Amino acid sequence: MDAQGTLRAESTLGDLSEALKEATKDVHVQAENTEFMRNFQKGQVSLRDFKLVMSSLYYIYEALEEEIERNKEHPAYAPVYFPLELHRRAALEEDLQYFYGPSWKQEIPCPEATRRYVERLQHVGQQEPELLVAHAYTRYLGDLSGGQVLKKIAQKALHLPASGEGLAFFSFDAVSSATKFKQLYRSRMNSIDMDDSTKARILEEAKTAFLLNIKVFEALQEMASRPEQNGQLNLEKSELRKQDFSKANGPTSTRENGPKESQKQLAMGVSFLRWALIFSVAVLSVAVGLYAL
Ligand code: HEM
Repeated sequence: MDAQGTLRAESTLGDLSEALKEATKDVHVQAENTEFMRNFQKGQVSLRDFKLVMSSLYYIYEALEEEIERNKEHPAYAPVYFPLELHRRAALEEDLQYFYGPSWKQEIPCPEATRRYVERLQHVGQQEPELLVAHAYTRYLGDLSGGQVLKKIAQKALHLPASGEGLAFFSFDAVSSATKFKQLYRSRMNSIDMDDSTKARILEEAKTAFLLNIKVFEALQEMASRPEQNGQLNLEKSELRKQDFSKANGPTSTRENGPKESQKQLAMGVSFLRWALIFSVAVLSVAVGLYAL
């Protein structure tokens, strides 16, 4: 019997929040130790890596929050419906606009692993809504925990402005205490009425959610280490060192002269140098040929 006097199924699996934490302990360690995340924690994150991860997160949250809206009144989700406090889609849109410019939606890449994660979210939201809480838990409680450390690392490594531009994703303005909010969230998860077999399926789904995240990190790592993209990656790094967005630009000029514009200028410079080199080699070859005659 619960506080409202309704009869509840006795669970042998304990509170959902405790069971979730325990069930995902190993996959959490696995996620933290992916190469992408390890590098990130060491501050080894380029602008290109960051843009890649933010792009994938956009697709993930777009799908997650669409399914949440679909199920906001479902008894298996309603108690943990906190759009104002948690939803990240609008924040990601702001960040992507900052990094990619106005045509961000046409430019953001979606690796296969991200597409698969999105498909799973859509399947759960539409066919097995009782499992949606597992996905919300995995992302939102993660963002409220380790996400805050990652924010500081990214801000420092990428010289992003102290005003928070480009980092809206990590800022939960409607949450005054992450610790207290997580406690509230856990108690709401524990209030969802479910039988043991559903609880066991939620635990499995949370592990799946972590594994889907791991696959995304692996795909991003693979994309970031492709040889033809390393040149661009290094250029962006050196360009970022030259710029200090927080000091040099005001809030509006930051957007105009931000990462996107600088990349274009650099790409033009590199392109010009490349052609100059090709032209010099051609002239030299003709000269040597003429001399040999
Ligand atoms: C560099 C990577 C990461 C770091 C440093 C990190 C760190 C942390 C820390 C410090 C906590 C708080 C633990 C506590 O309050 O007891 C936490 C909790 C959590 N993290 Fe992570 N994390 C990382 C990656 C991830 C990823 C990739 C996910 C999932 C996509 C994730 C999901 C979670 C969840 C769901 C919790 C809440 C656990 C609970 O209280 O039930 N974390 N993380």
